[in-house]
Amino acid sequence: MLVAPSILSADFGKLAEDVKAICEGGCDLVHVDVMDGHFVPNLTIGPVVVEAVAKAATKPLDIHLMVENNSFFVDLFAPLKPGYISFHIEEEKHPHRLIQKIRSYGIRPAITLNPHTPPEAIEFLLEDLDMVLLMSVNPGFGGQKFISNVLERAKRLKTLIEKRNPKCLIEVDGGVSDKNIELLKEAGVDVVVAGSFVYKHPEGVKTAIKALKE
Ligand code: DX5
Ligand code: ZN
Repeated sequence: MLVAPSILSADFGKLAEDVKAICEGGCDLVHVDVMDGHFVPNLTIGPVVVEAVAKAATKPLDIHLMVENNSFFVDLFAPLKPGYISFHIEEEKHPHRLIQKIRSYGIRPAITLNPHTPPEAIEFLLEDLDMVLLMSVNPGFGGQKFISNVLERAKRLKTLIEKRNPKCLIEVDGGVSDKNIELLKEAGVDVVVAGSFVYKHPEGVKTAIKALKE
């Protein structure tokens, strides 16, 4: 299992230190939640802060856009050379064009699905994607309760992926912990995002990341 801790649960007063801690603690990706206050009822960080995160990180960034104007934000973050950029299918009229734009920057494209969106909605985009992100909470905040329908959605997505593009990864975001990690693995999930479980773990981020990987 690959682990992408979400820095939304980090201490922003010592952000660089908290980013270094997860990279040294064995994470695979650094998950960055960008919210615009329109697509979701919360506002997070823009290019100035994400640039500081990119400087501190020794693992690729996994930028999760939760915004209205995806194309504008892709242009804004592309110079930071993230590993992945994901955008919500619910907020994109021209997903195929946007995927091409992300790839033209040398960034791996991913699409995010809210808890109500069936995997079939993106069946004909799978061959152009490197990853699909399934939300297991309603996007907007860390520390929410895991919505378990993601397990069924992951299994259905896995079947489509095997048919259309077996290299495409499945990522799950929201309420992930050591309590549901085994079920996620069984459902075919490759990457988990974890914010509060990692940053609020009593024994520290390294132990938390290890617990998810094992
Ligand atoms: C929610 C974000 C998540 C969030 C996860 O909209 O996309 O990445 O930080 O936090 P936890 O793991 O605490 O649910
Ligand atoms: Zn996220």
